[in-house]
Amino acid sequence: MKTRVTELLGIEYPIIQGGMAWVAEHNLAAAVSEAGGLGLIGGASAPGEVIRDEIRKARALTNKPFGVNIMLMSPYADEVAKVVVEEGVKVVTTGAGNPGKYMEMWKNAGIKVIPVVASVALARMMEKGGADAVVAEGTESGGHIGDQTTMSLVPQVVDAVSIPVIAAGGIADGRGIAAAFMLGAEAVQMGTRFVVAKESIAHQNYKDRIIKAKDIDTAVTGRSHGHPVRGLRNKMTREYIKLEQEGKSFEELEYLTMGSLRNAVMEGDIMTGTVMAGQIAGMVKKEQTCKEMIDEMMAETEKLLGRK
Ligand SMILES: Cc1cc2nc3c(=O)[nH]c(=O)nc-3n(C[C@H](O)[C@H](O)[C@H](O)COP(=O)(O)O)c2cc1C
Repeated sequence: MKTRVTELLGIEYPIIQGGMAWVAEHNLAAAVSEAGGLGLIGGASAPGEVIRDEIRKARALTNKPFGVNIMLMSPYADEVAKVVVEEGVKVVTTGAGNPGKYMEMWKNAGIKVIPVVASVALARMMEKGGADAVVAEGTESGGHIGDQTTMSLVPQVVDAVSIPVIAAGGIADGRGIAAAFMLGAEAVQMGTRFVVAKESIAHQNYKDRIIKAKDIDTAVTGRSHGHPVRGLRNKMTREYIKLEQEGKSFEELEYLTMGSLRNAVMEGDIMTGTVMAGQIAGMVKKEQTCKEMIDEMMAETEKLLGRK
């Protein structure tokens, strides 16, 4: 399936694995790229040298292109921005801000830059700033979210920019991919489904929680603070939302989320940890290899789009 995105990134299938903090390390990224999609290493708040090591480990596992997601609010964003250039990474996706100050350095290095956006205004701004494509991410997604649904955001972004649009949020099978294409997207980015991949290092408790999730099992914490995060309901989200409703500030509640994603992903603490996952978790029912997932989804997509 060729689209402007597969051409731009030199990949076989229009499927990108989201650069998920803690989850998206070299094993997952390399497995997705090996299967024909684009794997991403999640830069999160890790120092430059940690990401350098991850890039090298991924390269040892695959010759295919993979990328790095850089969280612009990370205290190490400057370092990681340089590391991707030094290590010859081909694709960078960015979250939580405007990558403007790195654009010239990345462009000179031939890096394809793909910011994640949750609004038309931001998509336009990124196109003006030289982005090669944008990920339009709907509020159904796991992790940090915006307000708009994928269904309404994607076609509006597609109409507003001429660079290719990648749809994210609530996509976990061929139906979702085909629907995203109908909205004008030229690729999809998925997070939640890849968390349960066999190659994902997420703790078994985390994977099982996603596999057991129902459609209504996610909750959003931090809405009143302007930092909304979607994850699966647990003791932590109930406590957080209760205190938020009582008017507690972001700073007062930070103790509840400090290190909490790491604790869930690495230690399997799904009660007081942050179990980031999207609304589509209710449809993710089994652990599979990345190749099994991608082959299955692409066959379904092509059938639905009448290409096979
Ligand atoms: C566990 C988890 C961690 C995430 N961490 C990040 C992150 O660090 N940076 C980022 O840009 N997106 C992050 N995301 C969002 C994903 O990259 C992706 O856009 C999103 O999961 C797509 O929606 P879906 O979960 O419905 O597939 C995360 C998502 C999950 C589930």
